[in-house]
Amino acid sequence: MNRREFSKNILGAVTSYTLFNSIFATSSFASAVSPITRHWAIELNEYCADLKKASVSPGEWQSLTEQLFQRIQLDEILQFIDFEKLTQGFSFPDIGVKTKPVFFPRLSGLPDKTVFVKKIFGVQKGRAIIPHGHTNMASAHLVLKGNMHLRHYEKVSQEDNRLIIKPAIDKMVKPGDSSSISDERNNIHWFIASSASAFTLDIIMLDLMGKNYDIQNLDIYEKENLGDGTMRVPILDVETALKKYGKEMHH
Ligand SMILES: [Fe+2]
Repeated sequence: MNRREFSKNILGAVTSYTLFNSIFATSSFASAVSPITRHWAIELNEYCADLKKASVSPGEWQSLTEQLFQRIQLDEILQFIDFEKLTQGFSFPDIGVKTKPVFFPRLSGLPDKTVFVKKIFGVQKGRAIIPHGHTNMASAHLVLKGNMHLRHYEKVSQEDNRLIIKPAIDKMVKPGDSSSISDERNNIHWFIASSASAFTLDIIMLDLMGKNYDIQNLDIYEKENLGDGTMRVPILDVETALKKYGKEMHH
């Protein structure tokens, strides 16, 4: 290609880019069809890299990641992670949840090892991702299949072997719905499957601010209301917590 043709091509590319932007700039459709904008997986990895180096706060990361989830067609995500193959012959545990690592296809611009951990979580009806809080962690959750009862609490403070928490979210969720946790917002979560089975895609960031992450399993049924909207709940070891919360016994 000679110089003149080269300039013409560049000009053409710039023009169509501008045209494309003027047509699709306001459309949520843009990121799904655009050959120019980044793939959502690359965008997600960038948000996570930004969180890792603290150039966005955990709360901002939650908003960005959930907005991204809401912008992408659920089918596109299911295909990208090959949900069907991932869940073929999935062996659900009788109590609690089983997780499986997710692999993204190779994509130019996406590192082989993403900044985040990615997994699917699968539960059967009446089984739970037991109530727990997190320290030095952030995660985002997209319901891929089934229905779940989702509850969130704010972590207010810790005293010895108890947490002071405050209810934040209590709702039924369905495929396409998302949620997230961090030290900044909606720290504690609890999912119970209400359909035959349910799956979430989890994007997990561990050891934020260079500190080891931690998880506190909580005995919400033993809550002590403190009269100001907060409640004091005991922290449980994982075995006791799974026995009590991993499978709904009262129905
Ligand atoms: Fe969690």
